[in-house]
Amino acid sequence: MDKDIVLSVRNLNVKFSLRGKVLHAIRDVSLDLYRGETLAIVGESGSGKSVLTKTFMGLLDANGWVDSGSILYEGNDLAQYKTEKEWLTIRGREIAMVLQDPMTSLNPLKTVGAQIEEALLLHRQLTPAQAHQRMIEIMTDVGISDPERRSRQYPHEFSGGMRQRVVIAIAVACKPQILICDEPTTALDVTIQAQILQLIRDLVHKYHLTTVYITHDLGVVANVADRVAVMYAGDIVEVGTSREVFYDARHPYTWALLSSLPQLGVRGEKLFSIRGTPPNLYLPIKGDAFAPRNPYALKIDFEERPPFFEISPTHKARTWLLHPDAPAVEPPAVLKRLKQEEY
Ligand SMILES: Nc1ncnc2c1ncn2[C@@H]1O[C@H](COP(=O)(O)OP(=O)(O)OP(=O)(O)O)[C@@H](O)[C@H]1O
Ligand SMILES: [Mg+2]
Repeated sequence: MDKDIVLSVRNLNVKFSLRGKVLHAIRDVSLDLYRGETLAIVGESGSGKSVLTKTFMGLLDANGWVDSGSILYEGNDLAQYKTEKEWLTIRGREIAMVLQDPMTSLNPLKTVGAQIEEALLLHRQLTPAQAHQRMIEIMTDVGISDPERRSRQYPHEFSGGMRQRVVIAIAVACKPQILICDEPTTALDVTIQAQILQLIRDLVHKYHLTTVYITHDLGVVANVADRVAVMYAGDIVEVGTSREVFYDARHPYTWALLSSLPQLGVRGEKLFSIRGTPPNLYLPIKGDAFAPRNPYALKIDFEERPPFFEISPTHKARTWLLHPDAPAVEPPAVLKRLKQEEY
């Protein structure tokens, strides 16, 4: 496969310092992003999904830093970027982000149109008239009707879903290479969620975007992603095509995530939930971080961190269960239902 890599993360470690203690938030992550793909990142709260993608845009909180590793983008190592001046060449222009809560991304004191035009003028050489025309086009692209009138309104005059459309308009205004969507629909009603998801899919197509889609809802992933990366405790533990991760998952943590999908629940029965809690990232982790919660854990899981084992050229997982000497373990029976639903 000769796939064009847009962004290449290698052995990335991110740490935060809090009250004199150090938290190891991203633990030696490597990941490639291919041009034009939609990659979903899934995992429980605190697994590092947001922190990982924030490092691509220089948006780590002030108490955080890239401790080691590289983030290659068009021949530059973003992990070495220090100044705002450097980041402004990337942020918004090359890589744009849509966050969960549209209100935090918008300025309540400026009209929606002015904010989209501002984004355009920041990164492109346009006359004010050109910027206005382009702004109207983009508002139409993101499905806001009567754009001339609505562009003169303020964020509070928009519904939550419409506000998220404005945020998306600002994100795609400068035709970035990469669009990062961090739980973009979590704060919205279910029906609106589906519309925003569809909008993102349409724009990805129209603007040839490479997309990272962060969600804790694996159900969403099946519909949007080409590939899925599963994160646990600051590490990617399994990555593969959507099909591979859904129908042929190999990491017990991915099994647990899949088992808790509502579509596998039997009416009247309690949904499966993963027992225990994720590890404390302030303390060193020995072995496989998931071992204490893993019903299939082997002795070695508590001692040595598993390497990645390759299942196919596109599919790999970090679990000792894939070692040739490991005992044969069947995935939970409930996952067979996912396979049956395939056709
Ligand atoms: N500024 C900070 N200071 C200290 N720790 C932080 C800071 N920002 C994030 N962390 C920690 O880094 C880890 C990863 O956080 P992150 O926000 O990436 O999780 P997430 O996977 O995005 O979770 P969620 O699904 O809740 O958004 C967590 O343990 C979190 O507490
Ligand atoms: Mg997050």
